[in-house]
Amino acid sequence: MNAKTRAAEAALNHIQNDMIVGLGSGSTASIFIELLCQAVREGRFKNIRGVPTSIQSEKLARQGGLALIDLKTAGRCDVTVDGADEVDPDLNLIKGLGGALLREKIVAQNTEQFIAIVDESKVVPYLGHHCPLPVEVTQFAYEVHAAYIQSLGARVEQRRNPDGSAFTSDNGNYYFHCHFGRIDRPAELDQALRNRAGIIETGLFIRIAKRAIVAGESGVRELTCPADQ
Ligand code: A5P
Repeated sequence: MNAKTRAAEAALNHIQNDMIVGLGSGSTASIFIELLCQAVREGRFKNIRGVPTSIQSEKLARQGGLALIDLKTAGRCDVTVDGADEVDPDLNLIKGLGGALLREKIVAQNTEQFIAIVDESKVVPYLGHHCPLPVEVTQFAYEVHAAYIQSLGARVEQRRNPDGSAFTSDNGNYYFHCHFGRIDRPAELDQALRNRAGIIETGLFIRIAKRAIVAGESGVRELTCPADQ
């Protein structure tokens, strides 16, 4: 069993009957969705309803036979389980390299307990350690959004599909990968980006994760948010 599967499997220990579960996006979250669907089919959990964070997650959950509910009807999720691209010592995250950060963040902010599931390679001493920051922007005047982000110190690349066309999110927006290098003050950067009209959301998830389940060669460990200890 690989590390992503071990982390996803450990997250099932935080699921209980009757929960509304936010379903993350990306390869690790997809494994969790499949395991959750299987556990429900086998009767381990009853009355679970899922809130997908992407069209892909919704498809996967439907294929697995999971009952779904939209966030408007649910109001709030009891728990959301999602992957991450980087996890810092305060459990602040970079997310979005899977292309679904806006819906992921909306669901995450409307969740009692957000759990990140990752392999050891995602645990970093500071954000920006080895991956760019994904940022979702309007298609309208996207070039000026890039110029603004560059003025904050990043090298900005537009995310593209394999055929070279511009990637658009499930919400019809463009996506930038912003190479800031080390991000010392993630909350300030998040604010500076989101204050700008046309920048819709960033992949900085600050003070959202309550727990990270980290799987590596030597087993699975759980990190809890230092502020909650
Ligand atoms: C999706 O938009 C992302 O936030 C993913 O959760 C993140 O990129 C981690 O993806 P993997 O589990 O595929 O590494």
